[in-house]
Amino acid sequence: MKEDRVSITALLTTYARAYHATHDTPKIFDDFLAGQFLSEKERAWFGVKLVEALPLFNPELGASHPDPTTALAWMMKNRNAPTTISRARYAEDALVAAINSGVQQYILLGAGMDTFAFRRPEMMKRLAVFEVDHPATQAFKRKRLAELQWELPPRLHFIPVDLAKDSLVAALQRSPHDPLQASFVSWLGVTYYLTRDAVLNGDLPFHSAPQVCSFSQTSNSPLPGGFCSYPCLCFRSSLLIARRCNRRTWSRTSVSPLIWHRGSNCSNT
Ligand SMILES: C[S@@+](CC[C@H](N)C(=O)[O-])C[C@H]1O[C@@H](n2cnc3c(N)ncnc32)[C@H](O)[C@@H]1O
Repeated sequence: MKEDRVSITALLTTYARAYHATHDTPKIFDDFLAGQFLSEKERAWFGVKLVEALPLFNPELGASHPDPTTALAWMMKNRNAPTTISRARYAEDALVAAINSGVQQYILLGAGMDTFAFRRPEMMKRLAVFEVDHPATQAFKRKRLAELQWELPPRLHFIPVDLAKDSLVAALQRSPHDPLQASFVSWLGVTYYLTRDAVLNGDLPFHSAPQVCSFSQTSNSPLPGGFCSYPCLCFRSSLLIARRCNRRTWSRTSVSPLIWHRGSNCSNT
């Protein structure tokens, strides 16, 4: 991501959650607040860009010049939404299970425009939330929150950290986070922006599966509406990482054993 600008992919995942909440049936993750983070102009821009990308992913449909609504629906259902929506649903299901077993702290690494703290007020009575993100993305989010005039829950804490170079542990120490209490950590869609060294050898809480979450539970239950089960999600994530391996140090073959090692078998999907 660019040093001084909001992460475009954080806005793109917000667009996916907003689109799913307003267009899909059944809904597997109803982020009814996501759309409010995007201006009309941003929503229109993502719509145009996604439609323009259709021929790259479906040359046949692209060549038939479908109307923009059809083109966008194909892109969302097949390219943009499944991974984002599935991982969000999985993470929040696992989070709720963790809360019910006594966990009272939730750390989101690379939180983007996550709306949990506003969408689940009943959970905020039982939980302190620590949103960690790159300073530029977090500044954008806080500006949008101020424009929306949403009341900030008292137990929501913003922690600006560049995970590529800053110490997460030091940043958490400066916050009300209690290192002696258990925390649920989600880390969705972030590790492929970091080097292998930053992920494995930095002070990130790497008891978690790369780019998924700090849970060791694997769910094989299918989700409705063509969305993925967790093992399938891991598999897709590792493929995505592998596609970037020319630029990064990840590869398909190096990621799978890592995910397996952390408790999620991704090779059987
Ligand atoms: C694809 S978005 C995912 C956002 C959110 N987790 C989601 O699933 O919608 C990637 C996130 O990683 C964050 N990110 C990328 N590089 C980062 C870095 N060096 N330090 C901290 N956050 C970073 C971006 O700011 C952005 O919020």
